[in-house]
Amino acid sequence: MFENHTINFDILKQRAFNLRWATVPEGVIPLTAADPDFPSAPEIAEAIIRFTKDSYLSYGPPAGLPEFKESVARFFQEKRQIPASPELLFPVDSAAFGIYVICKAFLKGGDEAIVFDPVDFLFRYSVENVGATAVPFAIPPTDAPVDFDRLEQLIGKNTKMICLCNPLNPTGKVFTKEELTCIGELAVRHNLIILSDEIWSDIVFKPHLFTSIASINEEIRNQTVTVTGYSKSYGLAGLRIGTVVASNTAHYERLFEASLHTSTIHGANVLSQIAVVAALDECGYWLDGFVSHLQNMRDLITTGLNSIEGFNCRTPEGCYVAFTDIKATGASSAELATRLFNEAKVAVVPGAKQWFGEGAEGYIRMSFATSEDVITEAISRIKQTLNR
Ligand SMILES: Cc1ncc(COP(=O)(O)O)c(C=O)c1O
Repeated sequence: MFENHTINFDILKQRAFNLRWATVPEGVIPLTAADPDFPSAPEIAEAIIRFTKDSYLSYGPPAGLPEFKESVARFFQEKRQIPASPELLFPVDSAAFGIYVICKAFLKGGDEAIVFDPVDFLFRYSVENVGATAVPFAIPPTDAPVDFDRLEQLIGKNTKMICLCNPLNPTGKVFTKEELTCIGELAVRHNLIILSDEIWSDIVFKPHLFTSIASINEEIRNQTVTVTGYSKSYGLAGLRIGTVVASNTAHYERLFEASLHTSTIHGANVLSQIAVVAALDECGYWLDGFVSHLQNMRDLITTGLNSIEGFNCRTPEGCYVAFTDIKATGASSAELATRLFNEAKVAVVPGAKQWFGEGAEGYIRMSFATSEDVITEAISRIKQTLNR
């Protein structure tokens, strides 16, 4: 399922946007946005076709199709040990929008939210878009322990939220239960909302284990709003679909109001919800195969990157991105990314503040959700360019 010949590069060149195949010049390998090169599981297309066959595409319920709510609740109960109830979760048109909805529901002008650094730009972007301030908390991509004293020092009278990205894009860190307990206890003590983004939670490599912070205990769960999506695990980025899970009715009501779903100004597409039901109920075998392929690709790309002079790539524990320290090359992240694009014809994401915060400078990020052939070719091109 995950061989080079299963990738249809012609279709990707027409359809894969967001810095990927459809946006780069012919001949460039885009290891940029974390979106798989592989086609999604066949059951997903079949479910969409079955649903559209009758040609009725009416409005869905604002809080989500019953089958979506039930399937997602079952996933959280069985796979994440969270007693999620269908009444306390709703679909959103992407995890990205889910992050924004949570910020809109719980933050106002003058509030502060703690955001990891480095981390995907969506957190800072959403916090700032609702008029609040993002306070960076450094979690360097090294073996250094998380500095919880520093975290507590960052909490002031205006702090209302802590944005947890677990597993952490771009460093691939998977938080341990002990670390999550520390974060959770801090949130309880200071009455902070924990925004727990778990979109990467299926992409965790052995022997690391994923823990949902809301599964730790009831007190921590009551501070937590969980958001997830299906772009990473099942390759459904273009369907723009995610889920927001509240822990209690008061939170649910605030979140649902912030979503603007009742007014129909926003809402999740019914076909995307049907796709998620098929993914969660029928495609576990596909996800298992994908994760086991990714574990091999992770080892291939990190070995390859570490064989390049000036590169140092830690093995990611989760996520399908390799975050490489390139400081020893003497180039900045932006300079190196430009050189690799122009000379090696490999597109990477530079560790720029715009993408991941200030803590990402000196790094580049590469997605490895592709075939062995593509990765081998990309590494060989980078090596040749830098050895010149
Ligand atoms: C941590 C994190 N959250 C959310 C998203 C966005 O997901 P979606 O495609 O569902 O908006 C991404 C995508 O890269 C991500 O890395």
